[in-house]
Amino acid sequence: MQDTRKIQDDLYYVGVSDRRLALFENIYPIPRGVSYNSYVLLDEKTVLFDTADSSVASQFYENVDYVLSGRRLDYIVVHHMEPDHSFLLGEMLLKYPEATVVTTKKSIEMIKQFQGLDLEDSAIVVSEGDTLSTGKHNLAFVMAPMVHWPEVMFTYDSYSKTLFSADAFGTFGALSGNLFSDEYDFDRDWLDDARRYYINIVGKYGVQVMNVLKKASSLAIEMILPLHGPLWRGDSIPYFIEKHKIWASYEPEKKGLIICYASIYGNTENAAQILASKASERGIRDIRMYDLSKTDVSYVLSDCFKYSTAVFMSSTYNLEIFTPMKNLLEDLKEHLYQNRDVALIENGSWALQSGKKMAELLCLMKDINLINDTISIKSSLKDNQIEAIEALADKIKESLS
Ligand code: FEO
Repeated sequence: MQDTRKIQDDLYYVGVSDRRLALFENIYPIPRGVSYNSYVLLDEKTVLFDTADSSVASQFYENVDYVLSGRRLDYIVVHHMEPDHSFLLGEMLLKYPEATVVTTKKSIEMIKQFQGLDLEDSAIVVSEGDTLSTGKHNLAFVMAPMVHWPEVMFTYDSYSKTLFSADAFGTFGALSGNLFSDEYDFDRDWLDDARRYYINIVGKYGVQVMNVLKKASSLAIEMILPLHGPLWRGDSIPYFIEKHKIWASYEPEKKGLIICYASIYGNTENAAQILASKASERGIRDIRMYDLSKTDVSYVLSDCFKYSTAVFMSSTYNLEIFTPMKNLLEDLKEHLYQNRDVALIENGSWALQSGKKMAELLCLMKDINLINDTISIKSSLKDNQIEAIEALADKIKESLS
């Protein structure tokens, strides 16, 4: 049965939530699921904005059929051709052969690459500033390359002051009946997943995100409709734009401490616990700790970007950084981690190497301020090293002041 919602006079939500998928892009755990948002406009001409992933095909077809109620489908706007939004495009064109695809040149090339679907002679190719009137609505196309793939564009509907924002302003998490962010306690229940989605998916492309935010700032926007997660309207919009400005500029969102440790037998972990206690004794309240062997790196990466100060602690393994820490640091480098205060603690039983190797990796990142001389543990922390831990806790306190 159809499950659709009217969100404006003539605009309908036809998206579907998926709670069965374990890994988004086959890499990011999504225990709360994900939504594939899609919209149908019933103006003089009808428009479908994006399709959906194959996993939700039958519900999606039913939703679109129901909203169109026998009307022809004139246009399918493809903002982003990544398969989670365009997998069903071919099938939709079979079901609605009269529909014309509206998208970017790059998108047409990539749809052909992925799906073997040749739209070169049939699609309307748009570029920055092109417009399409559907009756009372006037759609203007805004190029948004690398937010998150190179073919991405947004649509701005000047009649309803609505921005269709592709992956931007999206969030992991299935929708639980409510569609709009202001129908949830977003800050409490969604912000962590929104940050994890942003940092992991588009975090590398802060410059491009800033460019698009700049373009968007010249538009009067009353509604933002992303491809994932809650929709945005009215007074809630500036809150989320502000978060994106912080994330895209690589500024810490909060003064706070994150301690990440990669421990084999628990001795590096023990030192991490002691350091956290010393930090707490100094009145530091916002402390996050992660055992990198246990927590998926996407969560840790997200919190590294959230907080201003990080401690990385790793055993030596095969004369290298212990793998979970190596993976985190490589991931941080790829996502342009920068502008943070960082401290290092290494462990090793016969050939200490992890501290040096961690420092080498961090040196490849921009504006990383090492606040201590690496503390070296030989197998386990000793009484005579407590002073060094206390001194590091003082440095952390200073970094957070
Ligand atoms: Fe939601 Fe970049 O795909």
